[in-house]
Amino acid sequence: MSSFRYAEESISMYKSITSKSSKLYRRAVEANPGGVHSGFRWMHPYPFYVRKGSGPYIWDVDGNKYIDFIMGYGALIAGHSPKEIVEAIKNQVEEGTLYTMPFELQIELVEELVKRYPMLKGFRFSNTGTEAIMHAIKIAKIYTNKNKIIKIEGSYHGGYDPVKVSEFVRPDQWGDEDRPNPVVSPGVPDFYREDVLVVQYNDIDSLEKIISKYGDDIAAMILEPVMMNNVGFIEPLDNYLRKVEKLLKRNGILMILDEVKTGFRLGYGGATEYYGLNPDIVVLAKALGGGVPISAVGFTSEISQVIYPNGRYVFSGTYNGNPLVVAASYANLTRILTKEGHRRLFKLGEYFGSAVEDIIEDLNLGILISYIGPVGAIHFMGFKPRNFRDVMRNYNFRGYRESWIRLFFRKVLLRGPIDGEPYFISLAHDTDILDESIEKIHDSFRELRREGYI
Ligand SMILES: Cc1ncc(COP(=O)(O)O)c(C=O)c1O
Repeated sequence: MSSFRYAEESISMYKSITSKSSKLYRRAVEANPGGVHSGFRWMHPYPFYVRKGSGPYIWDVDGNKYIDFIMGYGALIAGHSPKEIVEAIKNQVEEGTLYTMPFELQIELVEELVKRYPMLKGFRFSNTGTEAIMHAIKIAKIYTNKNKIIKIEGSYHGGYDPVKVSEFVRPDQWGDEDRPNPVVSPGVPDFYREDVLVVQYNDIDSLEKIISKYGDDIAAMILEPVMMNNVGFIEPLDNYLRKVEKLLKRNGILMILDEVKTGFRLGYGGATEYYGLNPDIVVLAKALGGGVPISAVGFTSEISQVIYPNGRYVFSGTYNGNPLVVAASYANLTRILTKEGHRRLFKLGEYFGSAVEDIIEDLNLGILISYIGPVGAIHFMGFKPRNFRDVMRNYNFRGYRESWIRLFFRKVLLRGPIDGEPYFISLAHDTDILDESIEKIHDSFRELRREGYI
């Protein structure tokens, strides 16, 4: 994204409706790189600054009101500030925000998670996806007493060193199709080139080869069941996940499912339930808290034996499972994300997805949409991608990016300003709001086709 420039007219238009954001940006960059606190929030020529969010909407400081499909990159599964979560936080804040000792609601929240992931018998809370991924990988290494992990090329799992290998890879760095180069990100020690084995998503043959060569040294494979970072939305094809699971089990390699985005999103039991999987370790974050910072690592009872006081791994953190986020998450799971809540969310997602399919057909565009219930992406290419390289090789990035800003002008944030994010539908997006968005997508795509962008 950083080197991309929108069409000149689009930039002028952007500037004309975001003058207060521009002022804030100039002030922010005096003492904050890029005026943002997460690299993915920066955009050219400057980010818009938010004033507030409510339900399906977000307002910027210039008073523009947008229909939001970024939804905290999936965290806001019931929209901005749903009343159940607000109420839970308000009640809790009067009774203490940090105990640093255990309390009963933590037990109840864990029991809710066990209901959704019955194969897992232990959970620990942490604060972010990054942290939980770190714990998951360390636990897997200690449990197996092995050092290598397998990861998917182009997959994003947050900021922990080993998963920063081959996170986003330029074509000149790729290497072979069946043996991608391990490429370390800036700041990541070089030895991870040895410790991290990289494969392409949906490629079971090269996974098999890597396992037959290094199997004895591999602790775990970490993967997002559906790729939802860098590439929009890539689904597992030909029973890929079940085949991976079988292969890993046969070779004593743990399966770490990164359900940071798929958890709660693909249904009551996340991707694990949706695809009928039996992972050893699951990482949850985002939609678990519905907008507050909480994550969880779930593991089998055997694996829980390595965690202190059962075992050697000291899984700790001042804010882990703090009362505020536990109260919010408990309200989220028990009052919002009930089985009925999930059914409703799925229906909304299917309503939206099929309407976008109709638009693509109506305008005869050579692009497509991939989605499962309330999450998906419009792919600016002619076939469903199987992996990161398919996207990099075939995307019409010009059309993809310009479509973002044209929708922005129509006050629809279909995805974040960075490349490769899905859209997220929340329980706050009712059919009227979806209809309004669908109409605007139709208008934007018609305009982009007329101008030769798509
Ligand atoms: C699949 C996946 N794993 C891990 C992370 C890291 O989570 P966090 O940003 O909470 O550290 C993300 C964040 O987008 C993610 O999408």
